[in-house]
Amino acid sequence: MDTKTHWEKVYKTKEPQAVSWYQAHLETSLTLIERAAHLPSAIIDIGAGESTLVDDLLARGYENLTVLDVSQTAFDVTKKRLGPLSEQVNWIVADITQVELKPSAYDVWHDRAVFHFLISNEQRSAYVRNVAKAVKTGGHVIVSTFGPEGPTKCSGLEVMRYDSESLHGEFGSRFRLVESFKELHQTPVGAPQQFVYCYCRVE
Ligand SMILES: C[S@@+](CC[C@H](N)C(=O)[O-])C[C@H]1O[C@@H](n2cnc3c(N)ncnc32)[C@H](O)[C@@H]1O
Repeated sequence: MDTKTHWEKVYKTKEPQAVSWYQAHLETSLTLIERAAHLPSAIIDIGAGESTLVDDLLARGYENLTVLDVSQTAFDVTKKRLGPLSEQVNWIVADITQVELKPSAYDVWHDRAVFHFLISNEQRSAYVRNVAKAVKTGGHVIVSTFGPEGPTKCSGLEVMRYDSESLHGEFGSRFRLVESFKELHQTPVGAPQQFVYCYCRVE
């Protein structure tokens, strides 16, 4: 099954609060984004899915928001939840390994639990090419994946697990590591999942 078909099926068959990655609010991501993004900043959330990050960023006054995901179904849910506010958001339905993003368009790039699905070198290179092109010099990149003790699969798909060094190592020398740390996420059924966050500045 290809990437899009897989994720459309997930979002057509599961309630937003039933997926293992669900969090009512992405508090850690919000804290890092607020550190990186001074108004008016252009922020892109890669693989946003149905997460409430966009709601919380709108509530904090960020106006230049882009969300990207391979699943239209996930965005239909998010748009319905946001109501008229959804018109303030730029929506991109695309695969991050195939889309051509605009050069130097964003101050902040956020990705929670997407990069770890890219299991081939080609997919990861395409992702890194996009982030290197689309984020302005002086901008920030926040990427979180499963950590070394995290699960080996998510949503039935194989994932790569990273520690801070190996995750940062995927990005190259233009990405200066500002901070990285591990976090334990509790799934809706109470299972712990280890995540690693890398917060970088693009030089
Ligand atoms: C585990 S979910 C995380 C969702 C959200 N970031 C969060 O933290 O709640 C992974 C998301 O990435 C999307 N996704 C997976 N592979 C993708 C790809 N190659 N390009 C764009 N989106 C992708 C999926 O549709 C899904 O919404």
